Amino acid sequence: MTNIAILGFGVVGSGVAKLITDNKNEVAKLGGDEINIKYILDLRDFPDSPFADKVIHNYDKIVNDPEISVVVEVMGGSHPAYEYTVAALKAGKSVITSNKEVVANFGDEFLALAKECGVCYRFEASVGGGIPVISPIISCIKHNKVSEVRGILNGTTNYILTQMFTYGQSFESALKDAQKKGYAESNPDADILGTDACRKIAILTALVSEKLAPVSDIHTEGITKIRDNDVSAANKIGATIKLVGRGIIKNGKPMAMVAPFIVPTDMPLSQVSGVYNAVEVVAEPLGNVMFYGQGAGAGATASAVVSDLMQIMTTGTAYPAPVFEKCGDFASFDNFSCKRYLALSKSDVEAVLKTLIENSDVIYDGEDEVQLITSEMTEAELTKMLGDTKPLSHIRML
Ligand code: HSE
Repeated sequence: MTNIAILGFGVVGSGVAKLITDNKNEVAKLGGDEINIKYILDLRDFPDSPFADKVIHNYDKIVNDPEISVVVEVMGGSHPAYEYTVAALKAGKSVITSNKEVVANFGDEFLALAKECGVCYRFEASVGGGIPVISPIISCIKHNKVSEVRGILNGTTNYILTQMFTYGQSFESALKDAQKKGYAESNPDADILGTDACRKIAILTALVSEKLAPVSDIHTEGITKIRDNDVSAANKIGATIKLVGRGIIKNGKPMAMVAPFIVPTDMPLSQVSGVYNAVEVVAEPLGNVMFYGQGAGAGATASAVVSDLMQIMTTGTAYPAPVFEKCGDFASFDNFSCKRYLALSKSDVEAVLKTLIENSDVIYDGEDEVQLITSEMTEAELTKMLGDTKPLSHIRML
């Protein structure tokens, strides 16, 4: 019998308890042992839940119980998740998490501590919800030369963009739906401002480069500035707009970013709709590989958590663990080069931006604004060319 404790009985915690209970036989067969949920830690009580008798409010009881071998931290947030993880690892318990914030901030420290304590720290559910992506990257891809890992990493924003593009739903009402379906973070600003995707691209970039960037160093933009005119412009050129996280490794140096990108409809990422996420790895000699599945929600995320649990039960520390360390030495975003969609007000164009126009394809020239696709240029070159002019929109092209 493998005794576990679940920290947090929200969307993911209750999904994990349900999956372990509903699929008891499958999990026992594949994990080689029965799982007993001995404790569920939460601030609240759940008198109507079938797990009501497991709920406790005191973490010390878990950390001091020698029968508990695995702690499943699905609370979210950095604190007290950080303190609880350190205490569990030091007490010789393996830790599994879906909490991308704590992995992005402290994953390097937890991995080192787990190794020192002879236990596992696993976080498959922290990126891509239910999509198996971390284990396959570590065990099946990392021996290639990876030049990029990129993806649609936030289910909430992808759901909102899909509703806006395909069904004409308003931003606010699509966000409300995503919250109702349990996709959004407790503070949905983390979704719509790109913070959640930033944490995930920090983790993915660390997996392939072994360097974990401080999240504050990663250029991050959300989806709140996308205008109806930009949606029309993307449609007009046979493209869509997606919030994309990119980790690019060039000459051994990584660069990471999150921003809305214009994605041509012939690229696989453009076809990823609704709550679905996708992670694409570009590597030599492998070529391009794409992982696709539900990026949020109770059942999908629980599946990834339980896959970590079964790996711990069957292979423990023998299963390949990621290795990375905190590192500020990332390539400067100023040097990131791509084509860009710009919308400029007519007066700006006429007054100062002639050179930019001459080097671009104009896709719309209306009464109030001009929309164009620039030639490839770096962030620094664009800033110089724009001078004091603030574009109405600037969206990079994938
Ligand atoms: N809020 C996140 C999302 C949950 O929408 O993708 C899964 O990490």
